[in-house]
Amino acid sequence: MTIHIGAKPGEIAETVLMPGDPYRAKWAAETFLDQPKLVNEVRGMLGYTGTWRGNPVSIQGSGMGMPSLSIYANELIRDYDAKTLIRIGSCGGMQQSVGIRDVIVAMTASSMSTPSRGIFRDFDFAPCADWSLLRAAVTAAEAKGVTTHVGGIYSADVFYDERPDLNEQMTRHGILGVEMEAAELYNLCARHGIRGLAVLTVSDHLLTGDALPSEDRERSFGDMVEIALEAAFA
Ligand code: HPA
Repeated sequence: MTIHIGAKPGEIAETVLMPGDPYRAKWAAETFLDQPKLVNEVRGMLGYTGTWRGNPVSIQGSGMGMPSLSIYANELIRDYDAKTLIRIGSCGGMQQSVGIRDVIVAMTASSMSTPSRGIFRDFDFAPCADWSLLRAAVTAAEAKGVTTHVGGIYSADVFYDERPDLNEQMTRHGILGVEMEAAELYNLCARHGIRGLAVLTVSDHLLTGDALPSEDRERSFGDMVEIALEAAFA
């Protein structure tokens, strides 16, 4: 047990999928894993462990934003010996070429700040995905016929952004989408020498104002979960 995760030693797998939403962890575990077992419910941040094609997998909610993800990822790595962390989540599209429901596999994650600012200070570390996971995720997405984009994303600190000029600069620099967790996930995975990746579904679009209708969400998010699982065990 850790401060924020109630699972007993050995109850969390080396491979952990991390959606922001704890109820999406529950849905993904019950939909895609065999014998899913609830292993954490501290603060309602649900975590499950089961198997996928015989491989042990956990799905643990991260909460929203980098400070929350940092707590769960740190404890998974330090106390439960996680070796592969894959964020599965939604993002806002930032290019005209990116459509609602498309999948973005984040090669890099830019940010204005992360919880690692205290370590890096004025140094701009470049948080990037694990190459083996990235390659396997793209292969899996292409095999499924899912429209997939691979490139840089932006991990923001605020959802209700008061700086449209910053979004314009991100778009201008080819950033594909915005979410709020991946940059710190990549920092932590680099620091601890483990594999990290973010596979994202575009749920809304900053340029067009489009948004995924709620009835379409499950189907689209399901592709992302399968891509993450296939990448983890490729
Ligand atoms: N901004 C930040 N995070 C997000 C968004 C967004 O538009 N969509 C999904 N996660």
